[in-house]
Amino acid sequence: MPKLTIVAFDGTEFDLDAEAGSTVMENAIKNAVPGIEAECGGACACATCHVYVDEAWTEKVGQPDVMEEDMLDFAFETKPNSRLSCQIKMTDDFDGLIVRVPEQQA
Ligand code: FES
Repeated sequence: MPKLTIVAFDGTEFDLDAEAGSTVMENAIKNAVPGIEAECGGACACATCHVYVDEAWTEKVGQPDVMEEDMLDFAFETKPNSRLSCQIKMTDDFDGLIVRVPEQQA
């Protein structure tokens, strides 16, 4: 099981064992990570699951597709490493992935 660390806006680290094939958002919701609302349930239609991918991981995780890019326009304080966590699927390749929840989302 790939390890996933989600850092909440207050600095609390959630060290999780993510099931391969699950999304970062699903793991955040399952573990009640504050700041991840995921109002649309993972349909790439709300932007309340916005996270910053750790700089060391941005290349591996990759860039958002066009639909996600459009939805990110509705997120607060986007950065070049912004992604919607419902669009990041965990694989064994992502073992050790770190993402941070933006403060403005809380
Ligand atoms: Fe709505 Fe990710 S959960 S866009």
